[in-house]
Amino acid sequence: MKKEKNRNSFSGSIGFVLAAAGSAVGLGNIWRFPYLAAKDGGGLFLVIYLVLALTFGFTLLTTEVAIGRKTKQSPLTAYSKIRKKWGFLGVLACLVPVIIMPYYCVIGGWVVKYFLAYLTGEGTKAAGDGYFTGYITEMVQPILLMAIFLGVVAVIIYRGVNKGIESSSKVIMPLLLLLVIGIAVFSLTIHHTDADGVARSGLEGLGIYVIPDLEGLTVKGFFTVLLDAMGQLFFSLSVAMGIMIAYGSYVKDDANLVKSINQIEIFDTVVAFLAGVMIIPAVYTFMGREGMAASGPSLMFVSLPKVFDAMGKVGNIVGCLFFAMVLFAALTSAVSVMEAVVSSLMDRFHLSRAKATIIETSIALVGGVFVCLGYNKLYFDITLPNGAHAQILDIMDYISNNAFMPLVAIGSCILIGWIVKPATVIEEAEKSGCKFGRKKLYIVMIRYIAPILLVILLLKSLGILTLI
Ligand code: ALA
Repeated sequence: MKKEKNRNSFSGSIGFVLAAAGSAVGLGNIWRFPYLAAKDGGGLFLVIYLVLALTFGFTLLTTEVAIGRKTKQSPLTAYSKIRKKWGFLGVLACLVPVIIMPYYCVIGGWVVKYFLAYLTGEGTKAAGDGYFTGYITEMVQPILLMAIFLGVVAVIIYRGVNKGIESSSKVIMPLLLLLVIGIAVFSLTIHHTDADGVARSGLEGLGIYVIPDLEGLTVKGFFTVLLDAMGQLFFSLSVAMGIMIAYGSYVKDDANLVKSINQIEIFDTVVAFLAGVMIIPAVYTFMGREGMAASGPSLMFVSLPKVFDAMGKVGNIVGCLFFAMVLFAALTSAVSVMEAVVSSLMDRFHLSRAKATIIETSIALVGGVFVCLGYNKLYFDITLPNGAHAQILDIMDYISNNAFMPLVAIGSCILIGWIVKPATVIEEAEKSGCKFGRKKLYIVMIRYIAPILLVILLLKSLGILTLI
């Protein structure tokens, strides 16, 4: 009891919303959302994503934040406080950020490298063929920059909920939004005529992004879009990673949970949409439709540098601002991933914040070194059940995203929907006197629709369901 009283809390709703939005807005928004939107018929993907965000995403986010605030516990211990026998779900939910943290920091280190390259005017070099592969297969620098990125995250976490997480989010998130809006507007103003005399503009690229392309759409195609949007939403909202339970546990009892959750969703969705406005028109203008086939690391570290290079002198500045923005997004997300683990260690083993931070930093450091070595000394290439080629990083990403996260979310739906009943979450949300507007929707989603969709997503992710 004494510990609960001493538990830190966000100073107010803005602190919570910005920290949670900082967690949600991350690499997923920037390198995967635009690619999926381009691949899945532009506007169609956007509409489905929006509908899912307001139903499926809202349900999972509300559930986790409410579990956190109700139990005042981090993921490792929160589930067992709801129902003693369900402690295993907490272990699984806590394993997800443990697995994600090392590779998220490795990618954070890559972002630092590119930011520094543009800052020192080496944009053209960074756009060269083989630059990215050459860099990640190096022995020392990727490890060093990963460690620096991890170190910054660890310092923020060590400073605690208010002085670390909240105050860094309050500075970083407005800056990030400003950069995203600025780059998106710039992207719409560009024109380019290629060597074959074909002229393209950013505005035409915007059309490809937002206008639904329903040509040749089949039922199977529709399900692909639906599952793509759902998988993306999942990662993007930082649910099923223990994060939102940890952050929810720092929300004061008198805060308006429903309003904050809506704001987090709006922030995340707007930034994801704007990431598309930043990227799709620029890539289309300089590389045509073919250029839009890249996602993940190859979009961010190979295609976009080529786009910045094609912009001429201004490209170096745009590249620098772009990678500063990505760095901010990755940093606030990595902070939340680490906090999910650190708060779990603190609650479960009654460790001080300093000790818990040292332990998790050490685990992430060792894991991060292995991930880096996966591109040289420990290199191998295996094929995952979903057909993708994988090194250590991809395997960790696959295990956490495709297996553990859907399992955690299915478990949460069963626990809240059927065992302790949705009223547990609804009462928690309404505790401060606020109105839970989508109550009926929440009940139907948590009991029926969300678990069914999640099981389909899990089976598809594991390569078991191949029909859709
Ligand atoms: N939600 C975070 C992201 O999108 C983890 O990268």
